[in-house]
Amino acid sequence: MMGHADTADTVPKACEDEVRLRGALPLIESGQLADSYDTLHGIRFITLMLQTIPQGLTDDERLHYSLYLFDAFILGNLHELSDRAAKALAQGRIAAAVDALAWMERLLRLMHDASGLVTPLGAGTSVVEETSAALAFRQGFERLCRSLQDHFVAQEAPPDDESSTLQAQLFHQSKNIILQVRESLFNERRAPPQGVDPSLAEAHLRCVAAAALGIRLNSDTYINQFCLLHQLPELLTPLVLRSFDTIERRMGNGASAARSARLAGDLLFLITASLWPLIELLQPRAYYAFRENLGATSGSSSAAIRGKLLTSAYVRLAKAFVDHEAGAADEQDAGLAGQIARIRRLIYRWRGLHMALPRNVLGSNGTKSLMGSPDALKAVETMADSFSKRDPLTTRFGSVSDQDFPQGSAAAALDVWLLTTTGTAAQQRFRQVQERTGPWRKTQKAP
Ligand code: HEM
Repeated sequence: MMGHADTADTVPKACEDEVRLRGALPLIESGQLADSYDTLHGIRFITLMLQTIPQGLTDDERLHYSLYLFDAFILGNLHELSDRAAKALAQGRIAAAVDALAWMERLLRLMHDASGLVTPLGAGTSVVEETSAALAFRQGFERLCRSLQDHFVAQEAPPDDESSTLQAQLFHQSKNIILQVRESLFNERRAPPQGVDPSLAEAHLRCVAAAALGIRLNSDTYINQFCLLHQLPELLTPLVLRSFDTIERRMGNGASAARSARLAGDLLFLITASLWPLIELLQPRAYYAFRENLGATSGSSSAAIRGKLLTSAYVRLAKAFVDHEAGAADEQDAGLAGQIARIRRLIYRWRGLHMALPRNVLGSNGTKSLMGSPDALKAVETMADSFSKRDPLTTRFGSVSDQDFPQGSAAAALDVWLLTTTGTAAQQRFRQVQERTGPWRKTQKAP
């Protein structure tokens, strides 16, 4: 493991190498074309940061630092959105401004959710110098506020403007955003914990900024928000995996294992919550504007989330818990059992919620996924089914309900109609993906 002085030098160099690699991605008409999940989402930046966090930090300090980086990722993204909203206002594109502000509201809410997980580390660390990410965002936010005020004054828009839903929405969003930014930025300033050298933290922040820049596209799209919402769970997953290991080691050690399980559950809660902005805001047309730039990538290539967390690491923890209870001579550890049941529920919930994404933008009836699954929606359903069939905790906690609306109900009929219509639109729009030609010719999966 590298020491502080080494890492503060090594991180910028490794970060530059990664920027160069991403810069060399091939070009298609609409911009760059991603070659892999890791390059698209800047996963190597995240790995680099996590690997260079000093080993000696306590769990609380590590959580604190991970959330400090979490905020920095969101702030970089908010900065871009804030500039975009101001530009849209200046051009009189009110619907586009409302869209950008809706993303800001959702991301600020996620930051707010995350702030509830931080354990204060003691006096002297709660009010600190602003980070470069926060400072840059605040300057952009000032510009946005000036544009909003100019716009409202020019429009003479009343708060209950019945003649324009968009104006009324903009008015409402502006108030929300001001409160949310105040809550997040001014009351929740965070510093890195003392065990992290400031020069290392600064190098990490530069890595975050580089990762947040994303791949280059020729028009304004929401691809960076799509990437951010992959980066955030990638950033937190190693900490969940670490907590799983700690739980295993400390089983039989009373409150200690339950505490680690609680931390893992809190992080899983945040990972699950980070799906909501995409579910609520990524409509098909927004996704289609950058889908081809994603190449043949898929979240299922995530080594940490798919390869470990949702599969092997969960199963290992579940088995260890079942064995632990079987071997316990006397009464069961109710505190730990409750936390393990919560972890389990959140893993199922993540899968259940993630399903909304292919449903919303790809629909049903054979829309192929970018990586070549013959039916994207069926692929995620099959992954969820095969997971629940092998879940070692089913004998302990029972099956997790997967009931659907009864056949013939209005809800079931509407659902089929919506999904089929979305599927047809997606298939027509992305012929090359369907026919496995162009950039997708090498990725074809058996039905
Ligand atoms: C528009 C947004 C998204 C769509 C359309 C989508 C679609 C899909 C599809 C079709 C699959 C099945 C494998 C395949 O053929 O690609 C999949 C799996 C997966 N995706 Fe997504 N996804 C989206 C967003 C996300 C996000 C934000 C994450 C967060 C990291 C993510 C993580 C995963 C993981 C971990 C799997 C494997 C699931 C499992 O093991 O059950 N996806 N996704």
